[in-house]
Amino acid sequence: MSTAEPSQALGPPASSVAGPRHQGADGPPAGSSVGQAGNSAAADSGPPGERTGQRASPEPSGPEPSPGALLSVRGVSKHFGPVKAVDNVSLDFYPQEVIGLIGDNGAGKSTLLSVLTGYHRADEGSFFYKGKPVSITSPRESRNKLRIEMIYQQLQLARDLTVWENMFLGEELRIFGFVSDRRSMRRRAGEVLERLNSKIRPGDILGNLSGGEQQIVAIGRAILFDRDIILMDEPTAAISAAKVEDFLQLVRDLRALGKTVILVSHRLEDILAVADAVAVLVLGKLHCVVPNQDLTVSDLVHLMFGGQAPATASGGNLAQARWQLRHGGTGGGA
Ligand SMILES: Nc1ncnc2c1ncn2[C@@H]1O[C@H](COP(=O)(O)OP(=O)(O)OP(=O)(O)O)[C@@H](O)[C@H]1O
Ligand SMILES: [Mg+2]
Repeated sequence: MSTAEPSQALGPPASSVAGPRHQGADGPPAGSSVGQAGNSAAADSGPPGERTGQRASPEPSGPEPSPGALLSVRGVSKHFGPVKAVDNVSLDFYPQEVIGLIGDNGAGKSTLLSVLTGYHRADEGSFFYKGKPVSITSPRESRNKLRIEMIYQQLQLARDLTVWENMFLGEELRIFGFVSDRRSMRRRAGEVLERLNSKIRPGDILGNLSGGEQQIVAIGRAILFDRDIILMDEPTAAISAAKVEDFLQLVRDLRALGKTVILVSHRLEDILAVADAVAVLVLGKLHCVVPNQDLTVSDLVHLMFGGQAPATASGGNLAQARWQLRHGGTGGGA
């Protein structure tokens, strides 16, 4: 598999995520808080120490992708009848970054992920992959073109098949294009499981595995097919409490492999344990993005209900703070 992507993470993003378009006059003044993220498309892209004067602002981002972002989402909306499940969301995802996506029930988290996977089609907005405009019109396009893999809220694996069969489900290797290459698939599945430090064997029947082990199989698929972006919707829901720490380590391992992980969870302590930054949705809108620096669970709860983000040591430079956290900063994701 290619591990070329991590090298992209070496330069800091010049700008970051969109601020809340819904934020009214009661929002903070420009640069007063790192949480109300802005985007300065004109910002330079040098290392953080060399960049001065770049402050987060409550202005929404422009239509352009942010330099260095693996995936930029701009002005994306998805309606279900009268319900605006996702409302004008702009957000950047960088290589080798874990983003916690949080919000109250019905805030639009799963819908945003389903738009990224191509399961639902956005009504409005645009996407940029490695700076180039792309469309997401089908799950196949999302998987193959944007290299996105989704780990679903309810694991969608075949319980009566083996681990390796599940890992290659729908994407079988073939010899001469038609004979199923079972031996290679089994071997490659074994290599991936080893890489994930798992004792699961490729020939194990999936239904005999625990929830956490099944999660590893699902994540193994993402590694196997070298996806860049791994979306996880309430992944710890199927895992016993004792195994949650193992899972969180797996998320850190994915980041170390250069992957971008978008983690949706109501378990805010898990978010704080692994995320580099936290994006907060409120009623379908992006309320803010905060670097995971000195945050507490009660800070996150406050944000989920529309509260203002705490100021952080980054002094308002969100892009710089996210970069630092990904490269040896002091946040929970380190
Ligand atoms: N297929 C659908 N048809 C109609 N409405 C939908 C559909 N999917 C989601 N919604 C609505 O869109 C809104 C956002 O739902 P979504 O599932 O994205 O929220 P969520 O943040 O994932 O919530 P939860 O934390 O409960 O999983 C909700 O009001 C929900 O009822
Ligand atoms: Mg959901």
